[in-house]
Amino acid sequence: MTKIRLKKGNIGIAIGVVVVLVVLVAGLFRWKQTIDYQKTYEYQLQKHGYSEEDTAYLLEHLNDEQLENILDRDVDENIPKFMKETYYLEKNLDAYLTYFHEHEGETIEGLDRTLTLTDVVAIVNVHADKEWYTDYTNADISKDTSLLANKFHYLGEEYEPDDLVEVSNWYAYGDKPMLRKVAYDEFIGLYNAAKEDGQDVIINSSYRDYQYQYDLYNRYISWYGQKKTDEMAARPGFSEHQTGLTVDVTTYGANENTFQDTEEFAWLQNHAHEYGFILRYPEGKEYLTGYEYESWHYRYVGVDIATYIYEHDITFDEYYAFFLEGE
Ligand code: DAL
Ligand code: ZN
Repeated sequence: MTKIRLKKGNIGIAIGVVVVLVVLVAGLFRWKQTIDYQKTYEYQLQKHGYSEEDTAYLLEHLNDEQLENILDRDVDENIPKFMKETYYLEKNLDAYLTYFHEHEGETIEGLDRTLTLTDVVAIVNVHADKEWYTDYTNADISKDTSLLANKFHYLGEEYEPDDLVEVSNWYAYGDKPMLRKVAYDEFIGLYNAAKEDGQDVIINSSYRDYQYQYDLYNRYISWYGQKKTDEMAARPGFSEHQTGLTVDVTTYGANENTFQDTEEFAWLQNHAHEYGFILRYPEGKEYLTGYEYESWHYRYVGVDIATYIYEHDITFDEYYAFFLEGE
């Protein structure tokens, strides 16, 4: 048997080699870890300029493709803020940023506060970052009772609902007023419930065809001029009245100016949604609807949507943009 005898000096060298190797491997390992970390979105987002908190938020809420998209843009602390908005839509992010940077610090016409991110999301979602009546698309008739007709959704000259029924003059003023059957049936429920509470809710205007709206709009133009008319009346083909789902209401002794002070109006504020109707052009939302406040104009959208709108204090335009558009 050959015995290997290590001299003391050799032992020292061996230990030295092992130590060097261990240090080298540890160093390599650490180097690899650093390289790997630098490839992570966490590292890249922070290097890009996002705070730890924003980075954590972005990582939790975005997929890889969306994170790449964020990294392709200049750092903007408003991005995570927009994403936290209730009605944030990813497809609109560019438009939110553009609109916000163009209008930051401004006061919205008709409001006594400066623009918030929530306003920007609402404005862009409903397309009100564009001029009214520009870039409009055809209204999606397939949405049935939740179809949207507004300054960006056009019904066209020909659109006429196929289930219009004549409204009894028990409920309405006018010559042969008409509504879609579903809206009429629900209105009768509303009418009777209001009556039981001692209120008289009477229809003043209901279905209006293209020609009717054409005449009305042009009459207004001759009286008030274009700008004022556009705040009061829809251009032909863009009116909700052409859907057959809309009623203008009044009560005895009231007119458009005084209806908002009546008990009937107060009753509708609390109960219209129970029958699927919403106040379509609320006060303070003119910058989203494009119309002056109309205390008398109610739209049938069905109980579920009406209740959501009532509970969340949004316009139908906002609801449609977030939940229905493009579906
Ligand atoms: N007054 C409403 C906006 C219409 O003309 O349809
Ligand atoms: Zn109306």
